[in-house]
Parts: sequence; C-alpha cells; structure tokens
Amino acid sequence: MHTELSFSPLAQIETELLAVTAVDSQTAKGPDVKPVPVLLTSDQAVRAAAAAVLSSGEYKAGTNEAVLLHAPAGLKARRLLIVGLGKKAKATVHAVRNAAGTAVRYTKPRAIRDLTFALPGDNSIGPLHAMARAAVEGAFVGDFDPDTYRSERKDVSVHSFTLAAPTAADQAAIRAAFDEGVIIGESQNFARTLVNEPGNKLTPTILGQRAAQMASETGLKSEVYSTDKLHELKMGAFWSVSQGSEEPPALIVLKYEPEGVTDGPVLGLVGKGITFDTGGISIKPADNMEKMKYDMAGGAAMIGAMRAIALLKPKVRVIGIVCAAENMPDGKAQKPGDVQTAMSGKTIEIINTDAEGRLVLADGITYARSLGATHLIDAATLTGACVVALGMINAGAFSNDDATIEKFQAGLATSGERFWRMPLADEYYDMIRSDIGDIKNTGGRWGGAITAAEFLHAFAEDTPWIHLDIAGLAWIEDNKPFIAKGPSGVAVRSILEWVRSYE
Ligand code: BES
Ligand code: MN
Ligand code: ZN
Repeated sequence: MHTELSFSPLAQIETELLAVTAVDSQTAKGPDVKPVPVLLTSDQAVRAAAAAVLSSGEYKAGTNEAVLLHAPAGLKARRLLIVGLGKKAKATVHAVRNAAGTAVRYTKPRAIRDLTFALPGDNSIGPLHAMARAAVEGAFVGDFDPDTYRSERKDVSVHSFTLAAPTAADQAAIRAAFDEGVIIGESQNFARTLVNEPGNKLTPTILGQRAAQMASETGLKSEVYSTDKLHELKMGAFWSVSQGSEEPPALIVLKYEPEGVTDGPVLGLVGKGITFDTGGISIKPADNMEKMKYDMAGGAAMIGAMRAIALLKPKVRVIGIVCAAENMPDGKAQKPGDVQTAMSGKTIEIINTDAEGRLVLADGITYARSLGATHLIDAATLTGACVVALGMINAGAFSNDDATIEKFQAGLATSGERFWRMPLADEYYDMIRSDIGDIKNTGGRWGGAITAAEFLHAFAEDTPWIHLDIAGLAWIEDNKPFIAKGPSGVAVRSILEWVRSYE
C-alpha cells in the first residue's frame, strides 16, 4: 500500500473516496431522540455535502459506523465516507486508528483502489501528530487480509492511502508521526503475515530464515542457531520440546546496537515460537487444533517489534530472541514424568507435554540474561487459562518489578492495546514445586495463567521482567469493521513503546 500525506484543503483533494470522521454528541436517550452527529472537520464544503445525511436521523456516528455518499457536491472527491468514532466524550486516538482501518476495509471489497482519510481537524480527540501516526497504523492494519493461499484473492490491496492533515498543522511534526505510522503499521503486518502461515509453510527453520532476511534488510545483526547450539548451551528445556519433531528447532537471535550507545540498559525481548503445537504426547483434542499454527505469535511479535526498532532507531540496545520449535508426539518425544535440566541448571519435571511454551521460554530467558539483558519482556500464547480469565478483550501482563511494568502500561495509551496486570506471589510458586526435581511444568487447573508466569519468573529471577500472555488476542475470531479475522499482530506496538521508553 502506497501512502501519502497531504495538507491540501479537503475540497481540493482529488480522490476516489474521501473519508471524514464524526462523533455522536447526543447525550439524551430514548426511542424518539434523534442522534446529533458532529463532523470533525471545519471544511465548509465537506460540511455542506454531509449536512443532509447528518440531519436525517439515519446516521448515528456510532463506533466505526460508516455511511457513503456518491458525487458529493462541491468536492473533488468522487465519494464521501463518514466514519463514526462513537460518543464524543469517549472518543480516543485509538478510535481514530480504527476509523482509518474501517475506511480502508470499506473500500477494499468495493474495488476502490485509492482513498484519502481526513484527520479530525482539531486537537479535541488527541494531539494531531498522535492521531496521524495512529491513522496510518490503522490503515495498514485494515489493509491486511489472511487469504494468502486463495487462488483468486477476494480483496486485493488498496493501492494508495492518503492522510489529509489540516493545512495549519505543524507539518514537520505530522510528517514525522506519519513516517513512524508507516513503519509501525508495516511491522505489525509483518508479524501478522508470519502468524498467518500454516505449520507446513512456516517451520522453525523457515521462521529463522524470514527473521534473518528481515534483519539483513533493516540493518540488524542476526544469528539463527539449531540443535547443536541448543546442546552446546545445555538448553535442555528448549530441546525437550523440539526432540519429538522431525523439524529442527531454531534459536533466533536479533541484535539492535545503535551507534554510540555503549552503556545503559540492554533490553531482552523473548518470544515463544512454537510453529505448531499438537500438545506432544499429552496430545490436544482434534477440535480447533488447526489454530495452533498461531502458537508462534509471541515470537512473531518480537520479530515485528525488532523490525520497527531497527527502522525507528531508538537510543537503547535491544536483543530479540525467538525460541522456535514444533511440539509433536513421536517415538523420540518427551513423556510426562520426564525430568529435564534447563540451561540455568534447574531441573524440570514434565507433568504435561502441552505446557511447552514455558519450557522454550525458560531457556530463552536464561540465554537473554547470559547475553547481558538487564530488562526482559517475553510474549507468548502461553495459556488457555489466561483467556478464561480475561476473555479476548485484554491480554495478561505479569511482572516482578513495578517500575518496569509501569513503563509498559504508560505506553498503552499510545499503542491502543489492552493488557491487564495479573498477580504473582510465592504461594503460586509453591503450586509448581516438584517432588522429584526443582520445578514442575504445570500447577493444576486453578490460576493456570499465574502458575505459568511463576514458572518463567523462576528463570527471570530478579532481573526486571514482564511476561505478556497473548493467547486470547493473537488470533481474531470474527471480522471487525477495522480488522480482518485472523492474526492480530497484538503486542508489536506495545513492546515497541516500552522499548522507546528507555531511550
Ligand atoms: N499454546 C497453548 C496455549 C493456548 C491455548 C494458546 C489456547 C492459544 C489458545 C499452550 O501451549 C498450552 O497448551 N497450554 C496449556 C497448558 C496446560 C497444559 C497447563 C493450556 O493452556 O491448556
Ligand atoms: Mn501447548
Ligand atoms: Zn503452546
């Protein structure tokens, strides 16, 4: 998708479709109360063109509610699309992100190949530059469809997306925000492309190749290791997951080392990269097992975030590690009851081979620390229990350090993503003490997301660390006006904001 930025008066913009935003400013309720949508532009020509539909009472400017007008009088645009941001009092920068996505997804199936999205004309929703960045991100998010392998793809991409900003705006600031939005939107879609790939097309080895290719294109250092390196590093936990597969594991290491930065924090990003999770010998039921191709979404989020970091160049060192493996049942697969020795030296009793994510992450976390990471963040589709706890609305966030997670939480207003902090406590750790070894890989049904987090905590120890459980948000079950069903790319934007908070 080609993107452009325009500061021309809206009426002057030649485009197939001009999208503008509106809010619902009606406060009264009742069956006979007419909605009063208010257009978020002061452009007189646009206001005149939209006047009739806005006063008709037929359009409420509800969240992502869209209405299309053809041949709007007084505009050079062929069509005028009004996209609602919902109630005025609740409209946010994130609503603008979704509105841009809604406009793109409105045009795609109608074979409209170019559109212009007008930013709300003032700062009432949020700072103009923040809205500019969010709108571009939203446009990329909306442009993604998962039908990669369909012979005749239903929707081809929008060719050109123009962001129209008010003429009077600080053009340099808007330009910078716009450029960031392109990088971030493309990076999120890069992660989604990886997550979307089926297990046969994206093995651990191929995931490593994709990451290495991205690294060479963006100037990151990269190394992709396999079985020998796992043995050399004594990564017994990581290896135990991959030993039951014909596909070798991949330990993907991406390094971002900005010039002149030789001290300060080293951020370690560790992602779960299970390219397919059958459960192993503790095999999963057949229903929905096909979904388990997305069990590398945490790893993909790290790869997407590293791409954005490489291009945005924050002044802080970052190491990205993805532990990629396929969890399969086989004659060589690990068995419940087996005891494995992790890289840290801790012994792990395997209770359930389907609790494999924490095993690969345990060694990934230890490895990140051995490479000098001073602060850690991991992302993983780790537990169904987290989905039970938070549904598909919030992802889980855990941390051993308040200051570290507060920095992460501060970035959520910018990323527009929802993470809810969950507790850690010694009593939860007691639930995963093993009788035969140091720790066991499951703690029973209750508090399953938390005992999984405590397992990782045992490897992060006192290094400031955040764990993101994205099991419920990495895959979207139904189409939404602003995003297709399928891989969401969740966490790329929030991880990036966290990294930038250390600049
Ligand atoms: N990859 C799954 C978690 C998952 C579940 C992700 C649903 C996305 C949607 C993970 O490896 C797993 O199987 N977890 C088990 C842990 C249990 C055996 C302690 C689970 O959540 O059931
Ligand atoms: Mn599993
Ligand atoms: Zn898994």
